[in-house]
Amino acid sequence: MCGIVAYLGHREACPIILKGLHRLEYRGYDSAGVALLNGELNVFKKKGKVSDLEAYLKDKNVHANVGMGHTRWATHGEPNDVNAHPHYSTSERIAIIHNGIIENYAALKKHLEHQGHVFHSDTDTEVFVNLIEEIQKQNSCSLEEAVRLALHEVIGAYAIVVLSKDAPNQLIAARKGSPMVIGIGEGEFFVASDATPIIEYTNEVVYVNDYEIAVIRDGKLDIRSKEDVVQTPYIQKLELELDSIEKGGYEHFMLKEIFEQPRSILDSMRGRLELEAGHLNMGGIRAYEQKFVNAQRIIIVACGTSWHAGLVAEYLIEDLARIPVEVEYASEFRYRNPVITERDIVIAISQSGETADTLAAIELAKSKGATIFGVCNVVGSSIARATDAGAYTHAGPEIGVASTKAFTAQVTVLTLLAMIMGQKRGTITDTKLRELMVELNNIPAKVEKALELDLEIQAIAEIFKDVPNFLYLGRGYNFPVALEGALKLKEISYIHAEGYPAAEMKHGPIALIDENMPVVVIATKDSSYEKVVSNIQEVKARKGRIIAVVTEGDTVIPAMAEFVVEVPPTSEVLVPLVSVIPLQLLSYHIAVLRGCNVDQPRNLAKSVTVE
Ligand code: AGP
Ligand code: GLU
Repeated sequence: MCGIVAYLGHREACPIILKGLHRLEYRGYDSAGVALLNGELNVFKKKGKVSDLEAYLKDKNVHANVGMGHTRWATHGEPNDVNAHPHYSTSERIAIIHNGIIENYAALKKHLEHQGHVFHSDTDTEVFVNLIEEIQKQNSCSLEEAVRLALHEVIGAYAIVVLSKDAPNQLIAARKGSPMVIGIGEGEFFVASDATPIIEYTNEVVYVNDYEIAVIRDGKLDIRSKEDVVQTPYIQKLELELDSIEKGGYEHFMLKEIFEQPRSILDSMRGRLELEAGHLNMGGIRAYEQKFVNAQRIIIVACGTSWHAGLVAEYLIEDLARIPVEVEYASEFRYRNPVITERDIVIAISQSGETADTLAAIELAKSKGATIFGVCNVVGSSIARATDAGAYTHAGPEIGVASTKAFTAQVTVLTLLAMIMGQKRGTITDTKLRELMVELNNIPAKVEKALELDLEIQAIAEIFKDVPNFLYLGRGYNFPVALEGALKLKEISYIHAEGYPAAEMKHGPIALIDENMPVVVIATKDSSYEKVVSNIQEVKARKGRIIAVVTEGDTVIPAMAEFVVEVPPTSEVLVPLVSVIPLQLLSYHIAVLRGCNVDQPRNLAKSVTVE
């Protein structure tokens, strides 16, 4: 998520930082800011673009040789000037920039407030800088020591840079979970989220490891572990083109985002699934818990991929929480005079949080008195603001127009929601709940494993890249996955594709099947497995070309299908999180081989803000 840049050296820091922030813009952000150290410690920040920040800085004194800058992608607190980074400590003698999420910020904040710290923003980050200040005060220690001790108290992910008015020629940086690289020039140092802001000044870089603290002072870089043990920095020579670094070395944002999924799924569970303690939490439903428990019906409204996540949620909520669910295209729902009552809960799902149809569906449901719960990725977006309550997906910015990591993040959050509702309503046993918690916790590793199929899938894509049509079949939890696989292919490769419930095939689409028709069947081992095997036979009997997604170790389907890709086994209710991965990769590789513009397919927009 988002970006950090810092500089310490002999040049003017501000222009280097601003240029660096521009380089990081591709990561997506909602506000930007800088802190400059020149005897004073001055913070300037603005909601909006880096160019807005630049305009704001025009008449300011920005002369400094030490400074740091940040582009924020809000996770805690809406995007506005106050929540933008850097954040001061209460005394305004220390400032911080931070990428990531501090999970235990609420408890820390309470504690710090008792000790007299004053908070201005809604961010988790402001807690971090006050914690450092408090520790420094209590232990009368160096800033470096205070940062080190603070890292022992925060839980979550971070890449931080800290400046202090009392240490005029020093910059402290640390990371866990969020990226950070340090560039080493001639008597100057650069810190950034990736090498793009650095590469034009130096190609010598050190990638900071998790739990390391870097102190840049007196022309030297000192790296230590959280336990204060000196580490030898490994200096690497960068030989990368700027463009490829922005995409993290991937050829396209879509591929980068597909490969980010183990991480984005984990981020979506962070603080919500506490396996050791055996707890499930979702701050967003706390105030509406009784409404959820007593809901007579849940209506899900969404569009496109988010609608597919909604279909998965229908299976999940009915299965685990035994509440009837209807899944509606927002664009239809808003115009068809639907029956909605005050005992209904409407769940609106949207990556961008700006989809006009979904927003209108929310307004309609609101006017009828329903409670609206949002599942959005972009913090502070219109839908997030229009809902009564909600849960963010924390997938990080999704740049590729075809949605991938947002889908799995949505399904993760909706799974947690269904589990919590099942628990509160007593419709799921403790044993079953525990099993699901363990299995959900294993999902990022299983997705990682499914991503290893990349080369295999590329070879299949070579074979089918020129066909005009595709059919995707799945049953149960894999039916929405079939729809999603077909949508991905249509969107980026312009091949006509249809997703169908496998058993519906015989009511029509079977007429399309001949020796030229590729049929992707998602046939993992679950309660409808035997039935899907029969559906595969039906396709085979008509000479269709079967590409099957199966569970590792399946011996039956490989004897029938022309191509088989194996995904790790998981619980039936969690299977979409794993089975969708090969379909995302298949569409990606076919589109690349056809020479299509993968990240910006023709006629499509990332957020559809018109009807
Ligand atoms: C998915 O790949 C799409 N490009 C599209 O269907 C998208 O899911 C839809 O427009 C909904 O967007 P939202 O999640 O931002 O509301
Ligand atoms: N959690 C922090 C915030 O909401 C940092 C977000 C980021 O990574 O930009 O401000």
